[in-house]
Amino acid sequence: MNVLGIESSCDETGVAVVQSLGAGRVPRLLAHALHSQADMHEAFGGVVPELASRDHIRRIVPLCETVLAQAGLARQDIDLVAYTRGPGLAGALLVGAGFAVALAAALGKPALAVHHLEGHLLTPFLSADPPEFPFLALLVSGGHTQLMRVDGVGRYTLLGETIDDAAGEAFDKSAKLLGLGYPGGPALSRLATQGAEDAVALPRPLLHADNLDFSFAGLKTAVATAFRRFGPSPSGQQRADLAAATQAAIVDVLVAKSLKALKQTGLTRLVVAGGVGANRRLRERLDEACARRRIRVHYPELELCTDNGAMIALAAAMRVDAGLAAPDAARSFDVAPRWPLAEV
Ligand code: KG4
Ligand code: ZN
Repeated sequence: MNVLGIESSCDETGVAVVQSLGAGRVPRLLAHALHSQADMHEAFGGVVPELASRDHIRRIVPLCETVLAQAGLARQDIDLVAYTRGPGLAGALLVGAGFAVALAAALGKPALAVHHLEGHLLTPFLSADPPEFPFLALLVSGGHTQLMRVDGVGRYTLLGETIDDAAGEAFDKSAKLLGLGYPGGPALSRLATQGAEDAVALPRPLLHADNLDFSFAGLKTAVATAFRRFGPSPSGQQRADLAAATQAAIVDVLVAKSLKALKQTGLTRLVVAGGVGANRRLRERLDEACARRRIRVHYPELELCTDNGAMIALAAAMRVDAGLAAPDAARSFDVAPRWPLAEV
């Protein structure tokens, strides 16, 4: 079974084909292609939803053609069209969903709605070192920060989540304060390599709280205050130090809460997913802490950490293989801008 996956929940148009190899086997990625709108949104300092939708419309058909050509497939070889139903920007989601359902109808094939976070969560299965169930998932993206217990495909229990900003948002907002581009996560982490983590004292929100929740909104205020203290023209070193301190504060909390959740659940595998999972310092710190505790850590391949079509095609294929999905031949669809993962 060849599954075409369409991702359009935010500012990346992603298309991919995976091939299901049957129940109990990890599907194979045949091809994937991506267009990032980051350059377009950079001028506005963040994603402009209307522009995002319009750009998805421009990109989606050519990306499909590219992916099919790369995979050596004809349109008729597609057995299922999967698309992101949510969470995400309503208009952007509608582009992908509308296109996917229309394509499926034209081909006489079913369509399947996929949860964006389930896609992120399962993406490490496409890596060279795939995990095994059960595991703890640390989902860290631009919109979400969650700890999940994962017992199998579709068996997700939320253990803790952010009560305000997401980790990616904390990276992006702090980067903006430092005058770095959008998205700020990668830029901030690059600048951080030249700074000293302990040069600026920043809070570790909810670090010692007796739960698995996160809070990052206060950190952004602390970063703004520290930045103001540097005066009107901070030096390059001061900016790098503040970048390093910000990254350290976010990473400290993510590592500590992941370890706490592992201890509480007794799970011995950790899967890290979502855009912030690309962060080098987070990976170093988790690797180090988990190695000491004999916990295995799994990451998606770097290019599949941020939004992409492969994660959507993969989640659809794994749901079908697990007997969980009823591909929709009814041709009616909706999108779900807010959609808790535990409800899939
Ligand atoms: O998963 P994703 O592509 O989109 C959402 O579903 O939100 O995550 C995007 C987020 C952005 O906030 C971006 O700044 C962050 O992931 N990000 C990073 C890095 N690469 C992407 N944050 C820190 N370090 C990175 N290397
Ligand atoms: Zn995402």
